[in-house]
Amino acid sequence: MAETERRRRRPGARVVTASLLARPARIDLGGRIVETWAYGDRIPGPALRAAVGDVLRVAVRNGLPQATSVHWHGLALRNDMDGVPGVTQDPIRPGASTTYEFALAHPGTYWFHPHVGTQLDRGLYAPLIVDDPQEPGRYDAEFTVVLDDWLDGTGRTPDGVLAQLRKGMPDMGGMDMGGGSMPGMQVARSDALGGDAGDVTYPLHLVNGRVATAPVTLSARAGQRVRLRIINAGGDTAYRVALGAHRLTVTHTDGFPVLPATVDALLVGMGERYDVVVTLGDGVFPLVAVAEGKGGQGMALVRTGSGRPPAARVHPVQLDGRLLRPDDLRAAEAVRLPRKTPGRSHDLFLGGNMATYQWTINGRTYDRSSPLPVGEGETVRLRFVNQTTMFHPMHVHGHTFQVRGLSGVDGPRKDTVIVRPDETVVADLVADNPGQWLTHCHNVYHAEAGMMARLSYQRAGTA
Ligand code: C2O
Ligand code: CU
Repeated sequence: MAETERRRRRPGARVVTASLLARPARIDLGGRIVETWAYGDRIPGPALRAAVGDVLRVAVRNGLPQATSVHWHGLALRNDMDGVPGVTQDPIRPGASTTYEFALAHPGTYWFHPHVGTQLDRGLYAPLIVDDPQEPGRYDAEFTVVLDDWLDGTGRTPDGVLAQLRKGMPDMGGMDMGGGSMPGMQVARSDALGGDAGDVTYPLHLVNGRVATAPVTLSARAGQRVRLRIINAGGDTAYRVALGAHRLTVTHTDGFPVLPATVDALLVGMGERYDVVVTLGDGVFPLVAVAEGKGGQGMALVRTGSGRPPAARVHPVQLDGRLLRPDDLRAAEAVRLPRKTPGRSHDLFLGGNMATYQWTINGRTYDRSSPLPVGEGETVRLRFVNQTTMFHPMHVHGHTFQVRGLSGVDGPRKDTVIVRPDETVVADLVADNPGQWLTHCHNVYHAEAGMMARLSYQRAGTA
């Protein structure tokens, strides 16, 4: 591990330092004030930014009444900095501090959040942008756009919702269901997601911490090419994203470049990131994120000129136009993994039981699972087989995998991929980052209810 880390550091690497304070906070979401947990006094928390080859050193203080950790989502970093209590570190106790320090191996759009309980579904999340000094940067301006489904402090908490789901009761947004349990009752559905669109009903949807009635404004000039780095930090919601009067050219997903693909709208699963480039027209345009299959939306305004802002419920036609399909994207040549017969394959059968609210991989919840062995240097094939009626954004820690399409073509490089009901997604990775790494559904309720497993590098000679 130390050896792998040494290879990532540029000689004479710059050390970028930052500090984070996780703590209870009162936050104004735009006329709506909530008590929640946040990094500092804002959501999203402070964006961290550095360049490839830099070392990031972040001092984290835990001012929460509960233990926490910070996971650096999508990064191929040293294993002991991955932020998973019980696997890569001890939890950071209330009142305690710790420092994360690691080299940044790949450029792109990443983010961070706790890896404890349902804390991610509060306000504990923020972007992490890794710049590439070599990148041509064919754009004039850029904005980070963080999407989030919100219920904390609205009379409910994420822990309360999970407790209710565990009783086999659907979450209807806090409405009294008369105490009767209705296992299997659907709260949302979407054709684009192939079935159930979520388990949880959220009263609010945020873009950069604001509700649609009090949106943030992203200001630029007409004619400018703008890069949007879109991050879904939601707990249980995929977002359909479109910009009124514009098409979106997708250039990266999960940090890694793709052959550019131009569409009207994108579906972004929890934990996924899409970078898009647009050439802006003149006026005020709604950047809308609809909670797919649930209704409700978040919005930001893109402003290049004068004009009245659109209403909070505006529905640009692009939302119903050409939606990015999973097989539209190909990894850029430079990041495509060479085709190799995998040295090892693991099938991950995704299962669930709504009556007991248990979500499983290969029939087991995480606490009963056995680790999936991996040998350093191998090409490892993961096959995510969805046997449930709901989509699962499956995430792998510490690696970016090559999605192999069903027809055998190469898709994008990703660390989080939506697996629809009855679908199998094949993901190949090169095992070049020794350690113990989680793979799990990025629906925070599914992960907490068991849909996690561990990839475990075997010591050399025992693989
Ligand atoms: Cu974004 Cu295991 O997490
Ligand atoms: Cu899931």
